[in-house]
Amino acid sequence: MIYFDNSATTQALPEVLDTYRTVSDQFWGNPSSLHNFGESAWHLLEQSRAQIAKLLGVMPSEILFTSGGTEGDNWVLKGTAMEKHAFGKHLITTAVEHPAIRNSMEQLEQLGFDITYLPVDEHGQISIDDLKAAIRPDTILVSVMAVNNEVGTIQPLTKVADVLRDYPKIHFHIDAVQGIGKGIQSMIFNGRVDFVTFSGHKFHAPRGIGFIYAKQGRKIAPLLTGGGQERNLRSGTENLPAIAAMAKALRILLDKEATSIANEQKIKHIISEHIKNFNHVTIFSEDNDQFAPHILCFAIVGVRGETIVHAFEQHDIYISTTSACSSKKHLASSTLTAMNVPENVATSAVRVSLGDQNTLEEAQRFNQVFDQLYAEFKKITD
Ligand SMILES: Cc1ncc(COP(=O)(O)O)c(C=O)c1O
Repeated sequence: MIYFDNSATTQALPEVLDTYRTVSDQFWGNPSSLHNFGESAWHLLEQSRAQIAKLLGVMPSEILFTSGGTEGDNWVLKGTAMEKHAFGKHLITTAVEHPAIRNSMEQLEQLGFDITYLPVDEHGQISIDDLKAAIRPDTILVSVMAVNNEVGTIQPLTKVADVLRDYPKIHFHIDAVQGIGKGIQSMIFNGRVDFVTFSGHKFHAPRGIGFIYAKQGRKIAPLLTGGGQERNLRSGTENLPAIAAMAKALRILLDKEATSIANEQKIKHIISEHIKNFNHVTIFSEDNDQFAPHILCFAIVGVRGETIVHAFEQHDIYISTTSACSSKKHLASSTLTAMNVPENVATSAVRVSLGDQNTLEEAQRFNQVFDQLYAEFKKITD
């Protein structure tokens, strides 16, 4: 099979699963227990934290483990709202965020917070002037994603950071779930960012594990209270096998980052160059450095996204409608809608999302199948 749905999730690597199994077998004590058995689990927990911190060039105390991207996003937004509501009730985000951000913002709105959603241009990018205009004396947080999960647009994070340097009290959050390992680490860790969300299953770690970066001195209230793990900030017995496995997956990801990106760019290029010649095809993810290397979103206008996905599936090629979250709801992509793409085009969109395991031969095979399917679809569209 050809798996081109890596933005939905990735396959856990065998060596990462080996770590998961070894830790489950040999370090299954509770890191909070006082005895030696608990102590060795605690040491491994802290080693994993230190390894992740070193890989990202931050301090171990700035890494806090979560259950994944959704929790990280919810935590930073709601934790900021709880921590800083006395100073202000205004939060800024973009119109193209993942539902983990969007729906959290909507909940905060219901509680009396005021949210500004920055519009995007035809490429899905926010404007820095809009950001500057939106900032108010009562703004407590700005949350901007690194890479859009539906179209692959990279947001101008360095410029956002430059603006926010003049507002040192505002929390600056980046959802980097789709941005890790994609060559933009210096844009994410830009010297101004306060919080960053990561999710393990997007880089070949198991499901249900992730972490946030929380800059030293920046405070958010805990969402999960209880036994006081993670320095009282995120209670719950730590998922040590998944944490150790994630640390390994992150090392592997960053070790081969440059070659993976080059490979993904080539595959994206081979497919884009091929499909752009077809009349009914509209490509949203351009082949340049304003877009991530691993996401290619396009429409065959006149054919519904679900139809395209299932047609490729018949050939053992797995792609998705624009996001895994929206795919079963048959909704037009919220990102494309925000980019002012007409509804009939947005509902025809699909996403090819690549990973380092994909090959150029798979791209060629995709193109062959595309030709065959396009000829069949043409009977419908013409
Ligand atoms: C940009 C973005 N943020 C957050 C999430 C949620 O992450 P998780 O699936 O780990 O909860 C995703 C998942 O697709 C995502 O793409």
